[in-house]
Amino acid sequence: MTYTKIAVNKIAPHLGAEIGGVDLSRPLADDVMLEIRAALAENLVIFFRDQSMTPAEQKDFGRQFGELFTHPAAPQLVPGHPEILTVHADANSKRIDGENWHSDISCDIAPPMGSILYLTEVPPIGGDTLFASMYAAYDSFSPEMQRFLCGLTAMHDGERQHGGRFGSKTNAASEHPVVVTHPVTGRKALFVNPIFTTHIVQLKAEESNALLQFLYLQTQRPQIQCRFQWRAKSVAFWDNRCVQHMALWDYFPHRRHGHRITIRGERPVYLAA
Ligand code: SIN
Repeated sequence: MTYTKIAVNKIAPHLGAEIGGVDLSRPLADDVMLEIRAALAENLVIFFRDQSMTPAEQKDFGRQFGELFTHPAAPQLVPGHPEILTVHADANSKRIDGENWHSDISCDIAPPMGSILYLTEVPPIGGDTLFASMYAAYDSFSPEMQRFLCGLTAMHDGERQHGGRFGSKTNAASEHPVVVTHPVTGRKALFVNPIFTTHIVQLKAEESNALLQFLYLQTQRPQIQCRFQWRAKSVAFWDNRCVQHMALWDYFPHRRHGHRITIRGERPVYLAA
């Protein structure tokens, strides 16, 4: 793809690109939006630097990709903006969200298509986010292994992540294909993750555990990852259908703060061929 409205600088071979020449706080012309969509499809996760966005402006940007999703479990900390999920850590934090590999809310019957995280405060060093391409994970398997995985489904359960922390507002559990077909690119992506996936439906418990551990090891290889070093006022926009991510909490007791919005998706499907 040749871009004429935005600058696209890849940061790793399999995923990740920094996008320049865009002010996300302003309405974007159709041709700019077209290129941002193309850059997301091509790079799976895109980053923007030096942005100044109010919660309303962040939501306006997100709405151009679909309806916003209100997190079923997280406390609502930005008055008047229930769709904003606050991402925060400081010297009082006992844990942070997203500290293991996952795709967001995969326990939902229709997990989000993507999330847009905007950080306004970052630690002096550390606090990076890692992203891994689930296309590259699937592509790395032998044809026989791919055929086997394509016939399987897995359960994803919100209880593993949210259980007991936010009361009974969530804990959706859903069954999804282990390999999903991306609705925009048509590519196949592995869709199991250690935060939400409990087991593979067609296998015995010990077989399921062994296979999931194998899949997680493959998906967590540095060769299929990129690593984003945040600065204040950076934005990361990831495609939840083909990317897993993990937040590093290596900066305690420093502060890291920002807002995430999440865009609704469709029920994941596997399409043969
Ligand atoms: C998340 O949305 O999982 C958090 C990502 C981050 O804080 O870097």
